[in-house]
Amino acid sequence: GQKEIFYLENIDSTNNEAKKQANLGCHEGAIVLSEMQNGGRGRISRSWFSPAGKGIWLSVVLRPPFHPYDAPKCTLLAAVAVTKAIRSVTQVQCGIKWPNDILYEGKKIVGILTEMNAEMDAINYVVIGIGINVNISQEEFPLELRQIATSLSVAADKPIPRLPLLQEILSALEKEYHKVIQHGFVEMLDEWRELSVTLGQTVDIIGASEKSSGLAVDIDKDGALLVEIEGRIEKIIAGDVSIRPR
Ligand code: BTN
Repeated sequence: GQKEIFYLENIDSTNNEAKKQANLGCHEGAIVLSEMQNGGRGRISRSWFSPAGKGIWLSVVLRPPFHPYDAPKCTLLAAVAVTKAIRSVTQVQCGIKWPNDILYEGKKIVGILTEMNAEMDAINYVVIGIGINVNISQEEFPLELRQIATSLSVAADKPIPRLPLLQEILSALEKEYHKVIQHGFVEMLDEWRELSVTLGQTVDIIGASEKSSGLAVDIDKDGALLVEIEGRIEKIIAGDVSIRPR
């Protein structure tokens, strides 16, 4: 359907702008897009490399009717929609690393940052920020990212037009969101499992006080990662894991 679009040349972070618009009362489904970001943010207070014209730097405002407790699953929903859209438009067989990175051959192509504003038991808004490295050559990445990040154009070995991809992403997001609103999270979580590159892999749990690693066996109904460590199942609710190269 018709949605408000805030399209900018340059901004600190599309997530910041989306939160501003959400606080001013914009409708659900409003999007903020910028050609570049000069203060792009990642998870765990990292920054996000957002050069002009070479990516999709996008934030979507949702006002979901569910409990704040379920909001983190918006991130999983976005990862599912974006992965499907990328696969269908570019043929790049990327997959989801828990909770919400999209990787190709072990390197990150997409990052997702979800931020929520809630009062008591109700969500006011959720902003889903999606950063997609589209046409960035490997040498253009800053040194510290060169080994861990890549782009769709590198993966596909050709330039990728952004507009058709953006359109497919927005329509996939809308479809996935409506599915969740109408039928709950079960189907979406199954799709996440299908698209995951984490399940079945040995993972190191980052930030754990003692060294812990184990086999990622599943995600639960809340989207937490279930890791088998010495015969016990541990539930990883937040944070990060790294996948052991085989
Ligand atoms: C991560 O992997 O740590 C999340 C990265 C999220 C980046 C996107 S780009 C659009 C939106 N605006 C931001 O400042 N961050 C998100």
